Amino acid sequence: MDAFIIKGGRELQGTVRVHGSKNASLPLMAAALLTDQAVTLHDVPDLSDIRNMTRLLGTLGCETDRCDTDPGRPITIHATDQTQTAAPYDIVKTMRAGICVLGPLLAKRGKARVSMPGGCAIGDRPVDLHLHGLRALGAEISLDAGDIVATAPGGRLVGGHVFLGGPSGSTVLGTANVLCAAVLAKGQTVIESAACEPEIEDLADLLTQMGAKIQGAGSPRLVIDGVDELSGADHRVIPDRIEAGTYVCAAAITHSNIRLDNFPTDALGAALDRLNAIGVEVAPVTTDGQPVDRHRGSVTVNTADTLKPVQVFTQPHPGFPTDLQAQIMSLLCLADGNSSITEKIFPDRFLHVAELLRMGANLTRNGPSVVVTGVRELIGAPVMASDLRASAGLVLAGLAAKGTTTINRVYHLDRGYERMEITLQALGADIQRVKEENL
Ligand code: EPZ
Repeated sequence: MDAFIIKGGRELQGTVRVHGSKNASLPLMAAALLTDQAVTLHDVPDLSDIRNMTRLLGTLGCETDRCDTDPGRPITIHATDQTQTAAPYDIVKTMRAGICVLGPLLAKRGKARVSMPGGCAIGDRPVDLHLHGLRALGAEISLDAGDIVATAPGGRLVGGHVFLGGPSGSTVLGTANVLCAAVLAKGQTVIESAACEPEIEDLADLLTQMGAKIQGAGSPRLVIDGVDELSGADHRVIPDRIEAGTYVCAAAITHSNIRLDNFPTDALGAALDRLNAIGVEVAPVTTDGQPVDRHRGSVTVNTADTLKPVQVFTQPHPGFPTDLQAQIMSLLCLADGNSSITEKIFPDRFLHVAELLRMGANLTRNGPSVVVTGVRELIGAPVMASDLRASAGLVLAGLAAKGTTTINRVYHLDRGYERMEITLQALGADIQRVKEENL
């Protein structure tokens, strides 16, 4: 297993190009199961989750080709064998997003067997809303030996009216699954309390290009008129708003000025609002006469000398994303005063708290909230990565900390950040990837 060794305290400078979004790419790739024509996706990041999804699609009869010499590194996915309907446990267990194939398989092939994803480091992660939505489209669903077994009676789903709200709001991948199921269902489907995340809008964009009839993408009410078949498409994935927000925090925590290209300003409204209140200015780079591109533009990050404390509540989009909670916590550890962070999506997503304490942070957890009392400095220490975003929070803390921070188990980080250490090295950070056994 790999570890990172970070010598903190270096100022960063330079430019980062934000990669395409992991969480958009995974359901987009699964949507290629909805057609027997080829779907090409540009800007899919090179990550272990993406490689696992490629493997999963391979077991489901898809031929996949990635062209690494083209700047957009297009992936073409072609479902040439429509007979396979079972997603094996050994792949789905590596990546919860394996559940994304359920809706497309059921819609196109009339049946699906997908192993039920277990919990993970950030919480229980049920899929009851996915199944509720698919049942509303006529699916018959049972559980067999840990697998979800779903069938469309007569081979085709039928449109229905479904409410997808749960205790913490909507469900992102649940909305993706029901949306993908509805596009090929007979008749009209209405999804109320649909997830409004930009990744769902991106999926609706791809599906529309494939011939689907979808209204309301990006809003909580989706209206879908089913069609008989879909065609192939060529689509560019949206930039990764969480990677973008993480690098803004990297600049802020080291009081550095950096530039970010392919930056999705509009997808980060709540995060930029909180960062602004902390004293982090993210300003568009304007070119003479050109309008500011709020979807894939360029920005600079400038940080005030003193960071101000703030309150943060994670919420479904357009609220503050849970996937940036750990990163902003690291930043607030160095603010001048008391901040509070309340996790409204995954109330137990706080494994980074104990690790930050090892670095000298002053944090008090009370259920789903953490009071962050700013300290003058963080101090390097050996810490353990526990999940993807917690690991990113620890890297940020390490960049700012005095001395050396060693982060073990960075495979968590490799699931969601493409070569993060190379990006940070290019900005001037002192960060090395080593084998844990060589420590
Ligand atoms: C997506 O997970 C993301 N994953 C997660 O990204 C992200 O944290 C999460 O959305 C929330 O934004 C991908 O896109 C691959 P949810 P998802 O269903 O869709 C509850 C990362 O670090 N719920 O929107 O699985 C659930 O417990 C990650 O990149 C139900 O109650 O999350 C949670 O409280 C990790 N029943 C809330 O809804 C269900 O059937 C939101 O979860 C489904 C979810």
